Amino acid sequence: MTSAAHAEPPNEPTAGTLILGIETSCDETAASIVEWRDGAPRVCSNAISTQHEIHARYAGVVPELASRAHLERIVPMVREAIRYADLQDRRISAVAIGNRPGLIGSLLVGNAAGKAYAWSLGVPVIGIDHIAAHLTAGLLDAPPVRWPALGLVASGGHTHLFRMNGPRSMKLLGRTIDDAIGEAFDKAATLLSLGYPGGPLLDARSSAGDPTAIRFPTPRLTARSVREGGTDDNCLRAPTESGSTFAPVLSNDRTLDFSFSGMKTALLYAVRGVPPVTNRPAPRPPLPLTEQRISDLCASFQAAAVNQVMDVLARAYDKLAAQDDRPATLLVGGGVTANRHLRAELAKFGDQRGIDVRLPPQQFCVDNAAMIAALAHWKFAAGEFDNLRLAPRPFSALGRF
Ligand code: KG4
Ligand code: ZN
Repeated sequence: MTSAAHAEPPNEPTAGTLILGIETSCDETAASIVEWRDGAPRVCSNAISTQHEIHARYAGVVPELASRAHLERIVPMVREAIRYADLQDRRISAVAIGNRPGLIGSLLVGNAAGKAYAWSLGVPVIGIDHIAAHLTAGLLDAPPVRWPALGLVASGGHTHLFRMNGPRSMKLLGRTIDDAIGEAFDKAATLLSLGYPGGPLLDARSSAGDPTAIRFPTPRLTARSVREGGTDDNCLRAPTESGSTFAPVLSNDRTLDFSFSGMKTALLYAVRGVPPVTNRPAPRPPLPLTEQRISDLCASFQAAAVNQVMDVLARAYDKLAAQDDRPATLLVGGGVTANRHLRAELAKFGDQRGIDVRLPPQQFCVDNAAMIAALAHWKFAAGEFDNLRLAPRPFSALGRF
């Protein structure tokens, strides 16, 4: 199997096409206009309204509150995106809606609004998978990439690794079997009373800590341990979506999965103490949570989480290279790819292996609508449209999450 055999089908988007993207899958209401120009998706506007102030007091997203806030914010965001893009007399060609996966009430708002805009403009709607869209972040306003690529999505809801032939042709290599990495960061930050959302706060606090102070477990899953863990095969037998291939590339290779719940429990024990076990000597009480100890816990937890991601990435790369299928590019997306330590390690990974690592700017790492509109350009070029019966779906066909 050679790399040349995996070229993306010739569906190059058309210059001048303008797509309005809408994103409401979780707690960000976003709208964006993306134009195809000079061989790449160009961001004309990127309007986003985060709901952190609403959910902070609950230390997590409250779905009903999220849906209500989307309802209030979606029209202002679309107006803002259109105003900022300054379209003059140019017409929007399609409306792209992030319709899966996500919180169903939140998705419903973007789905209804997007269809209403498409109907009133007389243009097609295009339903977009949020996970796949994250992987276009490194293509925005950037030179075209060489394929095949490795694609890493690391966010609050997902930790997925893919092998990609193109933006719409992806095969699942591995995914978390429990918590998503961002979820683990957020829960760790809550445990350490850092605030919400925890990922960026834990990232900032880590700079004052020693990443070697506490040893957190870095799991490495074997095919056997995963099977014994009782997971099923559904994600590796994901359905094929129209025009896209979602099938396992390293069949039944579960060793490229991730797990973050053990690290989270280890942090809980480090903070609150190990629970006593009958007939065993009483465990030592936890060390006092001084400011320095908190910083050390942050830095060590972050190092262990990043270490696991890098370990899986390196093994995926080596396995593909051994099959004469060496990735030329690494695409990353999702809020956690804004993490400074992870970005430094990803850049090092690229230098060591001579692969083009695309590290998107922070506003395209987190949830945004530009990535939704960008991915829709390839579907538009292939003539793959949805209609006004497009429905929101809580799950993705790309793998269990
Ligand atoms: O992609 P995203 O905006 O939403 C989902 O699709 O989930 O990702 C949000 C996640 C949150 O868990 C947040 O804490 C995490 O990304 N995050 C970070 C950083 N910035 C955002 N995690 C670690 N370090 C950061 N700098
Ligand atoms: Zn996301």
